[in-house]
Amino acid sequence: MSVSYMTHPLIKHKITLLRKYSTGTNEFRKLIEEIAMLMGYEALADLPTADIEVTTPIEKTLQPVINGKKLAVVPILRAGLGMVNGILALVPSAKVGHIGLYRDPETHLPHEYYCKLPEAIDERQIVVVDPMLATGGSAVAAVDFIKARGGRKIKFMSVIAAPEGVSALMKAHPDIQLYVGCLDRCLNENAYICPGLGDAGDRIFGTQ
Ligand code: PRP
Ligand code: URA
Repeated sequence: MSVSYMTHPLIKHKITLLRKYSTGTNEFRKLIEEIAMLMGYEALADLPTADIEVTTPIEKTLQPVINGKKLAVVPILRAGLGMVNGILALVPSAKVGHIGLYRDPETHLPHEYYCKLPEAIDERQIVVVDPMLATGGSAVAAVDFIKARGGRKIKFMSVIAAPEGVSALMKAHPDIQLYVGCLDRCLNENAYICPGLGDAGDRIFGTQ
């Protein structure tokens, strides 16, 4: 598996603002969306293109456009929803699937409650989005579900990751491409990322 860590100063700056305890729901949502768009720009740099003929005011010419089956963006509910519009701003025609998972507060293990993916998922480039990659349990389970339904070309985008989550995802799914906004220090005793940003779902939806 290839892991890309974001180096762009705009992404770093926005992740710092996201972490702040004083950042309210409205600003948090906006930042998550902007970070997803900036990360999406990097993650989608290898989208296939094909030349089409266009007529400029001067002459006819062959020029590239995005080619192939429409992209599938798959947020892991809930927090992944906050990243969807950032990717759709880049690729408005993308299809959107959903995977519902929550971590058991005691065991920290993921539980599935929903899965609906676009048709012909085996032919699409898939971008799974979830702001937090902590133990990696949710990410591994989400990619398991996608592969069980035929998905093959998978990229995974997380805004903040713990080393434990990166290792778990790399071990379980060495064939996927992982994009990480920032690699943090470690997990605490409640499997929260340190320094992290707290509970991403609660901060996006204001449910603390
Ligand atoms: C968070 C986060 C990830 C998961 C990461 O979701 O959005 O999906 O935890 O943790 P892991 O790597 O240890 O599995 P959560 O389960 O809190 O659900 P929510 O998005 O509905 O709040
Ligand atoms: N889920 C979150 O929302 N935050 C963490 O730090 C870990 C898991």
